[in-house]
Amino acid sequence: MDRLRIRGGKPLHGEIPISGAKNAALPLMAAGLLSAEGLTLDNVPDLADIASMSQLLGVLGATIESKPDPSGRGRQLLIRADRFTSFEAPYDIVRKMRASVLVLGPLVARGGQARVSLPGGCAIGNRPVDLHLMALEEMGAEILLEAGYIEARAPKGLKGARVAFPMVSVGATENALMAAALADGETVLLNAAREPEIIDLAACLTAMGAKIEGAGTDTIRVRGVTSLHHARHTVIADRIETGTFAIAAALTGGDVELVGADLEHIAAAAAILEDAGVSLTPTARGFRVARANGRLEGVDVMTEPYPGFPTDLQAQFMALMTTAKGAAMVTETIFENRFMHVPELARMGANINVHGASAMIRGVERLKGAPVMATDLRASVSLVLAGLAAEGETLVNRIYHLDRGYERVEAKLGACGADIIREPGG
Ligand code: UD1
Repeated sequence: MDRLRIRGGKPLHGEIPISGAKNAALPLMAAGLLSAEGLTLDNVPDLADIASMSQLLGVLGATIESKPDPSGRGRQLLIRADRFTSFEAPYDIVRKMRASVLVLGPLVARGGQARVSLPGGCAIGNRPVDLHLMALEEMGAEILLEAGYIEARAPKGLKGARVAFPMVSVGATENALMAAALADGETVLLNAAREPEIIDLAACLTAMGAKIEGAGTDTIRVRGVTSLHHARHTVIADRIETGTFAIAAALTGGDVELVGADLEHIAAAAAILEDAGVSLTPTARGFRVARANGRLEGVDVMTEPYPGFPTDLQAQFMALMTTAKGAAMVTETIFENRFMHVPELARMGANINVHGASAMIRGVERLKGAPVMATDLRASVSLVLAGLAAEGETLVNRIYHLDRGYERVEAKLGACGADIIREPGG
């Protein structure tokens, strides 16, 4: 298993190209199952999770051609699902990547059946799929849970329905949206997620011929059509990668231009960063981020569904607060057990106390390098950020989590002056 060796203390200077969004690309790939005519996706990031989704689509009978994106950004995927050879998403793939459950809606909507392994336990708490199943049941699917698998059937196709989500779920909204695109009649999704990735999925489905209104608001209306056609769609920039590198620049006291980034998609995080003393300036190609002057101030933050502060930036923001002046309270409202980076940051000298869903961070002058262990995707990158700012050497072990969601992270940071190398072992 690879690890990263980081010698901290070098401010980042330069530019970082922002990749296509993993969390937009995964549902878009699943949407490729909805049409017999193929789907071309541009600006797809080259990541382990994308490879897992490609493998899953392959198991279901789709073919995937992957080549460098002609625009020079990421990969271009041509997904062709003329017919299904299987309706099963096996445990071995689903356990590696929870987003595999996104094939459920498309399989039932177009193929009338699906057998998808339950994702099971996950490092960041119990993450059920009840809302995904509720939406499909409202649309007329029969669902059984058998031997760790979701068995869904809709032999006569899905029917439009009113689906009122009791809580906001990104994945359940995406599954419902894809299923509704091919259902008979109108579907209304209430309390739908409003993330930019939902808007991107709706834009792609619309380009494929779906009839969707209201994506990006909490009420989405879908008029089902009988089939979808080929479309070509460009994946949006990754707002979590954007926020992560913005925090890296701020934490190291550097000055970096994030090229291709969309500041609007991280508006809540940007406002918090500005409160802490980070300056963000729009440029023609994205935006520049720098620490305005001296030490940052501690600022409280609470994670919320979009447009609130994203849970996927919580660990990185906590790393930033470890050396801020005063105290900061970070409250996690989306996932339980998402503070696994805390003991690792403490090994580097951070002063953090966790009380239930909140963590109180009292800023220290400087972090100190240490060997640390990556636990989940965003926790891993928070340790990399801490290592960039720490005095001495940090070894981040078990970085396979990082490779699921960050493309060429050491190359992107290294190009801005970070002393970071990947080595085998750990
Ligand atoms: C997506 C993102 C993930 C991000 C999360 C929240 C992808 C591939 N992943 O995950 O990076 O951290 O949104 O922004 O886009 N829940 C239920 N029942 C369900 C579904 C969800 O109780 O059926 C709960 C979850 O346990 C969690 C909350 O709802 O507490 C939000 O989860 P959800 O928005 O569904 O996250 P994902 O779509 O899994």
